[in-house]
Amino acid sequence: MKQNRREFIKTCGVTSAGVLCGGASLFLNSCGTVNYLSYKENENTLVVSKSNFIKEKYGMLAHKKLPAPIYLAKLDDENYSAVLLECTHKRCEVSPVGDILICPCHGSEYSKTGEVLEAPAEEDLYRFIVTTDADNIYITVN
Ligand code: FES
Repeated sequence: MKQNRREFIKTCGVTSAGVLCGGASLFLNSCGTVNYLSYKENENTLVVSKSNFIKEKYGMLAHKKLPAPIYLAKLDDENYSAVLLECTHKRCEVSPVGDILICPCHGSEYSKTGEVLEAPAEEDLYRFIVTTDADNIYITVN
Protein backbone atom coordinates (compact mmCIF):
# COMPACT_ATOMS: atom_id res chain seq x y z
CA MET A 1 0.00 0.00 0.00
CA LYS A 2 1.42 3.38 -0.97
CA GLN A 3 0.62 6.47 1.08
CA ASN A 4 1.18 10.14 0.47
CA ARG A 5 2.51 12.37 3.26
CA ARG A 6 -0.90 13.49 4.50
CA GLU A 7 -2.12 9.91 4.84
CA PHE A 8 1.16 9.09 6.58
CA ILE A 9 0.54 11.85 9.14
CA LYS A 10 -2.89 10.42 9.96
CA THR A 11 -1.33 6.98 10.40
CA CYS A 12 1.35 8.31 12.75
CA GLY A 13 -1.14 10.21 14.92
CA VAL A 14 0.66 13.55 15.23
CA THR A 15 0.41 15.26 18.63
CA SER A 16 1.61 18.65 19.77
CA ALA A 17 3.58 17.13 22.65
CA GLY A 18 6.33 15.87 20.41
CA VAL A 19 5.38 12.21 20.78
CA LEU A 20 4.62 11.19 17.30
CA CYS A 21 4.02 7.51 16.80
CA GLY A 22 0.87 5.58 17.41
CA GLY A 23 0.07 4.16 14.04
CA ALA A 24 0.73 1.02 12.13
CA SER A 25 3.94 -0.82 12.95
CA LEU A 26 4.78 -0.82 9.25
CA PHE A 27 5.74 2.85 9.59
CA LEU A 28 7.46 2.89 12.99
CA ASN A 29 10.92 3.23 11.47
CA SER A 30 9.89 6.57 9.99
CA CYS A 31 8.29 7.96 13.14
CA GLY A 32 10.09 9.02 16.29
CA THR A 33 10.07 10.98 19.47
CA VAL A 34 11.84 14.30 19.71
CA ASN A 35 13.01 15.01 23.24
CA TYR A 36 12.73 18.28 25.08
CA LEU A 37 16.19 19.62 25.92
CA SER A 38 17.26 21.45 29.05
CA TYR A 39 19.01 24.77 28.59
CA LYS A 40 20.43 27.71 30.48
CA GLU A 41 19.13 31.21 29.84
CA ASN A 42 21.45 34.20 29.66
CA GLU A 43 19.50 37.41 28.93
CA ASN A 44 18.04 36.78 25.47
CA THR A 45 20.12 33.71 24.70
CA LEU A 46 19.29 30.06 25.33
CA VAL A 47 22.39 27.94 25.87
CA VAL A 48 22.17 24.25 24.97
CA SER A 49 25.01 21.79 25.48
CA LYS A 50 26.28 20.09 22.34
CA SER A 51 26.45 16.90 24.40
CA ASN A 52 22.70 16.55 23.71
CA PHE A 53 23.57 15.88 20.07
CA ILE A 54 26.10 13.08 20.41
CA LYS A 55 23.47 10.54 19.38
CA GLU A 56 20.46 12.71 18.56
CA LYS A 57 20.01 14.97 15.54
CA TYR A 58 17.03 16.93 16.85
CA GLY A 59 15.61 18.34 20.04
CA MET A 60 12.92 20.75 21.18
CA LEU A 61 12.99 23.56 23.72
CA ALA A 62 10.03 25.10 25.52
CA HIS A 63 10.23 28.75 26.53
CA LYS A 64 7.48 30.59 28.38
CA LYS A 65 7.78 33.73 26.24
CA LEU A 66 7.34 31.89 22.94
CA PRO A 67 3.99 30.76 21.46
CA ALA A 68 5.39 27.37 20.43
CA PRO A 69 8.46 25.22 21.06
CA ILE A 70 11.78 25.71 19.30
CA TYR A 71 12.95 22.85 17.07
CA LEU A 72 16.73 22.58 17.16
CA ALA A 73 18.35 20.46 14.45
CA LYS A 74 21.99 19.48 14.08
CA LEU A 75 23.11 20.07 10.49
CA ASP A 76 26.77 19.15 11.14
CA ASP A 77 29.24 19.46 14.04
CA GLU A 78 29.37 23.25 13.80
CA ASN A 79 25.99 24.16 12.32
CA TYR A 80 22.58 23.97 13.90
CA SER A 81 19.18 25.29 12.90
CA ALA A 82 16.52 26.56 15.30
CA VAL A 83 12.97 27.30 14.14
CA LEU A 84 9.76 28.22 15.93
CA LEU A 85 7.20 25.42 15.60
CA GLU A 86 4.35 27.84 14.85
CA CYS A 87 2.77 27.37 11.44
CA THR A 88 2.84 30.48 9.28
CA HIS A 89 -0.58 29.62 7.81
CA LYS A 90 -2.89 30.00 10.82
CA ARG A 91 -0.52 29.59 13.77
CA CYS A 92 -1.11 25.96 14.77
CA GLU A 93 1.78 24.17 16.44
CA VAL A 94 3.88 22.24 13.94
CA SER A 95 5.19 18.77 14.85
CA PRO A 96 8.36 16.95 13.84
CA VAL A 97 7.69 13.75 11.87
CA GLY A 98 10.85 12.01 10.78
CA ASP A 99 13.02 14.58 9.02
CA ILE A 100 10.27 17.07 8.30
CA LEU A 101 7.92 19.35 10.23
CA ILE A 102 4.20 18.98 9.65
CA CYS A 103 1.23 21.10 10.68
CA PRO A 104 -1.65 18.94 11.90
CA CYS A 105 -4.28 21.61 11.15
CA HIS A 106 -4.19 21.82 7.35
CA GLY A 107 -1.16 19.76 6.37
CA SER A 108 1.53 22.31 5.61
CA GLU A 109 4.98 20.80 5.57
CA TYR A 110 8.37 22.34 6.28
CA SER A 111 11.95 21.14 6.06
CA LYS A 112 13.92 20.70 9.31
CA THR A 113 15.34 24.19 8.71
CA GLY A 114 11.88 25.71 8.26
CA GLU A 115 11.48 26.06 4.49
CA VAL A 116 7.94 25.49 3.19
CA LEU A 117 7.72 22.18 1.35
CA GLU A 118 3.96 22.00 0.96
CA ALA A 119 1.10 24.56 1.11
CA PRO A 120 -1.19 26.01 2.33
CA ALA A 121 1.58 27.81 4.26
CA GLU A 122 3.45 30.21 2.00
CA GLU A 123 6.06 31.58 4.41
CA ASP A 124 8.91 29.69 6.04
CA LEU A 125 8.94 29.09 9.79
CA TYR A 126 10.56 31.77 11.94
CA ARG A 127 14.31 31.11 12.21
CA PHE A 128 16.35 32.03 15.25
CA ILE A 129 19.96 33.16 15.07
CA VAL A 130 22.16 30.26 16.17
CA THR A 131 25.85 30.33 17.01
CA THR A 132 28.14 27.70 18.52
CA ASP A 133 31.45 27.24 20.27
CA ALA A 134 33.27 24.04 21.18
CA ASP A 135 30.76 23.05 23.87
CA ASN A 136 27.50 24.89 23.40
CA ILE A 137 24.80 26.07 21.02
CA TYR A 138 23.48 29.60 21.50
CA ILE A 139 19.96 30.51 20.33
CA THR A 140 19.04 34.17 20.33
CA VAL A 141 15.42 34.81 21.31
CA ASN A 142 14.34 38.46 21.30
S1 FES B 1 -2.39 26.29 10.44
FE1 FES B 1 -0.80 25.07 9.63
S2 FES B 1 -1.50 24.49 7.68
FE2 FES B 1 -3.05 25.74 8.45
